[in-house]
Amino acid sequence: MSLLITNVRPYGEDAVDIRIADGVIAEIGTGLDAGDADVVDGTGLVALPGLVDLHTHLREPGREDAETVETGSRAAALGGFTAVHAMANTDPVADTAGVVEQVWRLGQQAGLVDVVPVGAVTVGLRGERLAELGAMADSAARVRVFSDDGHCVADPALMRRALEYVKALDGVVAQHAEEPRLTVGAQMNEGDRSARLGLTGWPAAAEEAVIARDVLLAGHVGARLHVCHVSTAGSVEILRWAKSRGVQVTAEVTPHHLLLTDALAETYDPVYKVNPPLRTDADVQALRAGLADGTIDAVATDHAPHAVEDKESEWAAARPGMLGLEQALAIVVQTMVEPGLLDWRGVADRMSVRPAGIGRLDSHGRPLAVGEPANLLLLDPTHRATVDPAALASRSRNSPYAGRELPGRVVATFLRGVPTVLDGKAQK
Ligand code: DOR
Ligand code: ZN
Repeated sequence: MSLLITNVRPYGEDAVDIRIADGVIAEIGTGLDAGDADVVDGTGLVALPGLVDLHTHLREPGREDAETVETGSRAAALGGFTAVHAMANTDPVADTAGVVEQVWRLGQQAGLVDVVPVGAVTVGLRGERLAELGAMADSAARVRVFSDDGHCVADPALMRRALEYVKALDGVVAQHAEEPRLTVGAQMNEGDRSARLGLTGWPAAAEEAVIARDVLLAGHVGARLHVCHVSTAGSVEILRWAKSRGVQVTAEVTPHHLLLTDALAETYDPVYKVNPPLRTDADVQALRAGLADGTIDAVATDHAPHAVEDKESEWAAARPGMLGLEQALAIVVQTMVEPGLLDWRGVADRMSVRPAGIGRLDSHGRPLAVGEPANLLLLDPTHRATVDPAALASRSRNSPYAGRELPGRVVATFLRGVPTVLDGKAQK
């Protein structure tokens, strides 16, 4: 199958034609002959490497009423992703080679993005003893990212042991940094606002204390640490310090922490309840600056679909989490590109190149260049549309962006040269 994308701007630069054949970028130039290729008109569109998400909750096995590998994959492709890491907090937990292989196979069957399973660090996410990290790494799913996300690996001795194991596997521990003793019953960011609203606070120090501890442990062991969903200005400072000391630490920020603040808790609408919680405007500014200067390596969605009965209740009873896959790029355009904090190469770096490197994915995060795998997306950066949760591909509806007008529309996504999205519509 051969395909010609005409008059498209790679990384927003000069317009070219891109020929794709046998899943690979075969030719880049101007005035290329279409021959018998299918033609996609790229006029006015920006081409970027396919996005890679380090943090997606696909809910299968166990909560197929909230999301499945297939529906989540469709949401991902529509968002411009070609690979997503599926978090391990499923039911059963992805803590064995059997479960990670099951998720990996479901991803292959859906065939819309590469679904890369994350393995649990501890058995059942209970934080008591290590899961079979080696068996998951050696499985068909080739797990390299290990995380108890949803829970913190709170025991420092266990965290140290996990870092030692992943070092031997060329893997990484992705830590959900939350000191559980400091967040008992926590409902929102701790501050004047939580006091006024009468909701138990989640202090910044509960995140920062774990990150500080873990960068010291990672430095001591000489292992790779990745910090999930960094949410505070203080966390950015600690990461900057650790990186300056040569610690092998990487970090992600979510789209929602780049845009939204704890002021939204005033609505008492549980769609804004998330863990870690939405923080202050000063935190949002520090997160944007940290992403711009590379202290924060990646944008990761923490796409967390929840069924209506788990989400639409009183604030305290609602599960934390919000959808992210379909709007992630739009939020980055709004918060980073439009204010001039990142250019398109910067977006490619933080949403594709670096996350692929952290996950050790060889065929993603590659440059748009001849001979490279044809994993890419086409974006109309001028298009603006209002988010309608009913129109989302996700099986859940808990989007915090409902009713917001956002910039940028993913027009097409290609996985190894095969369109998974065309004209903004999923191809299966
Ligand atoms: O808000 C969150 N939702 N944070 C997490 O750490 C877990 C996630 C989920 O699984 O719903
Ligand atoms: Zn988490």
